[in-house]
Amino acid sequence: MSFSLRFPPIASSSYSVSMRGLVFLVLCILILNGSDPCSGGKTSSFTRKVEKSVDMPLDSDVFHVPPGYNAPQQVHITQGDHVGMAMIVSWVTQDEAGSSVVLYWSEDSKHKKEAKGKHSTYQFYNYTSGYIHHCTILNLKHDTKYYYEVGIDHTIRKFWFITPPEIGPDIPYTFGLIGDLGQTFDSNNTLTHYELNPHKGKTVLYVGDLSYADNHPDHDNVRWDTWGRFTERSVAYQPWIWTAGNHEIDFAPELGEIKPFKPFRHRYHTPFKASGSTEPFWYSIKRASAYIIVLSSYSAYGTYTPQNQWLIDELPKVNRSETPWLIVLMHSPWYNSNSYHYMEGETMRVMFEPLFVQYKVDLVFAGHVHAYERSERVSNVAYNIANGMCTPVRDQSAPVYITIGDGGNIEGLAIEMTEPQPRYSAHREASFGHAILDIKNRTHAYYSWHRNQDSFAVEADSLWFYNRFWHPVDDSICARGEEA
Ligand SMILES: *[C@@H]1O[C@H](CO)[C@@H](O)[C@H](O)[C@H]1NC(C)=O
Ligand SMILES: *[C@@H]1O[C@H](CO)[C@@H](O)[C@H](O)[C@H]1NC(C)=O
Ligand SMILES: *[C@@H]1O[C@H](CO)[C@@H](O)[C@H](O)[C@H]1NC(C)=O
Ligand SMILES: *[C@@H]1O[C@H](CO)[C@@H](O)[C@H](O)[C@H]1NC(C)=O
Ligand SMILES: [Fe+2]
Repeated sequence: MSFSLRFPPIASSSYSVSMRGLVFLVLCILILNGSDPCSGGKTSSFTRKVEKSVDMPLDSDVFHVPPGYNAPQQVHITQGDHVGMAMIVSWVTQDEAGSSVVLYWSEDSKHKKEAKGKHSTYQFYNYTSGYIHHCTILNLKHDTKYYYEVGIDHTIRKFWFITPPEIGPDIPYTFGLIGDLGQTFDSNNTLTHYELNPHKGKTVLYVGDLSYADNHPDHDNVRWDTWGRFTERSVAYQPWIWTAGNHEIDFAPELGEIKPFKPFRHRYHTPFKASGSTEPFWYSIKRASAYIIVLSSYSAYGTYTPQNQWLIDELPKVNRSETPWLIVLMHSPWYNSNSYHYMEGETMRVMFEPLFVQYKVDLVFAGHVHAYERSERVSNVAYNIANGMCTPVRDQSAPVYITIGDGGNIEGLAIEMTEPQPRYSAHREASFGHAILDIKNRTHAYYSWHRNQDSFAVEADSLWFYNRFWHPVDDSICARGEEA
C-alpha cells in the first residue's frame, strides 16, 4: 500500500492528482454508487429525543448515600503515575475526617497492604464540603485484579479494579469515551449504555464538564456530591481520565469565589507531576499501547505559557515504538460545525495544530458541544495572515477530530448545525451517546459511537482507524473500499 496517496485540497478548484489517486477516487465513487463521501459528510437525520433534559431529583436512587455512620461515598479512581502502576483512590466522608487509609490486595494474595492518603475540605460561598480523601497506591503489578477497601469499623466499603497490561506497541486495550455527562435522566442513560455495551471499556477517557453544579443557584456544590455518588458505580471500578471543562471553572466573583477550578481541584486529582506538568489540568499518561495527552482549554496556552512550554517539551518524548497510539483529549473542539460553541476552539487550534500534524497525532477527542461529530483527517496550518490559505485540507498526517460532548447534561442537545456541512466534517448528529475505542495492535483500532436511543450493541457510527506512525494509510470511509 502506498503511503504517498495524496488528496487534493478540498476547496481547491484546480489541482493535480497522482494517477494512483485518480484511480482510487474513481474506484471510490464506483463503490459508493455515485454518492461521494470524499466530498462531504453526513448529517444524520435521526430523530432524537426532544424533551428537555432535567437533573435527576436529589432523592433519586443514583444519589443514594451509602448506609452507616460516616460511610465513604463518591469513590473514584484514576491513573496515579505515568505508566499505569499506580492508582489514585478518592472518596468523601461526610460526618468526620475518619481514615485516609486504603487497604488493598491482589486477587491471588490474602495479605492486605496499606496506603496512606490525605484529606482536605473546602468552602464555596456558603457550602462546606465533606472530608475529601485522596490516596495514591504505588507499585501495583500490571494486568492484575486488586480489591481495595476504604472506611473504618462498621462502614468499610470494598471495591476492585484491574491494572492495565504492561506498556507495549501491540497491547490491545479498550477505552470508553464520555463527555459533558452531568446528572440528568439522560446522563444515567448514557452511563447505563456504556456499562452494558458488549464492547467493554476498561478505562474512560473523560473529555470534561462533569457535574454541571454551576448551573444550579450559587453553583450549589451539593450537585458535585450527587455527581460523585451517581458515577461511583463505574469510576470506583475503572479509572476515568479527567479533562477540565468550562463547568469545572466555577469562577463566581458575585459569590466571592474568584479562584478558578476550586471544587474540581479539590475533588478530582490527576497524576500531572509524573509527566512534568505544573498544574493538574494538563498532563499525560501511557496506558497499554496508547499515549494520552490531556490539554486544558481553560488554562493559558499561548507562547511562553506553562501549558505551551509543557506541550512543546512533551511531544518529542512520545516513542511510537513503545506507544504507537497518540491521543489528545481537550474540552473545546477545534473542528466543530455545530452552531453551539462555534469557533470557541479556534485560538488553541492556531497555537497547537502545527504540532499535532508534525507529531502525527492519531485522534483528538473533545466535548463541550452537546452532539456528536467526527471529522476527516484534515489540517488547516498553511494560513499566515497574508496568503489567504485558510481552508482545511485533507492531510494524512493530521488527526481525526471527534466531538463526544453528548453525555446528556442539563443544557440539552445542540441541534443547530452550521449549513452547509463543511467538507471536513464526516459525520454529525445531535443525539446523546458515548463511544468506544478498541485498540487492537500498533496499526488498527476499531472505533464505534453508540447513541442512547438504540439498544446497547448498535453502532451508529463506526470505522477502523489506522495508526499514523505505523500504517498511515487513508482510513476515511471513502477509502474503505481499498482496505489495506
Ligand atoms: C446558601 O444560601 C442560599 C441563598 O443564597 C440558601 O438558599 C441556601 O440554603 C444556603 N445554603 C446553606 C448551606 O446555608
Ligand atoms: C439509573 O439507571 C440505573 C441503571 O439502568 C437504574 O437502575 C436507575 O433506576 C436509574 N435511575 C434513575 C433516577 O433514572
Ligand atoms: C523507544 O521504545 C523502544 C521500544 O520500547 C525502545 O527499544 C527504544 O529504545 C525507545 N527509544 C528511545 C529513543 O527511547
Ligand atoms: C492488527 O489488527 C488487525 C485488526 O484486528 C488485523 O487485521 C491485523 O492483522 C493485525 N496486525 C497484526 C500485525 O497482527
Ligand atoms: Fe463545556
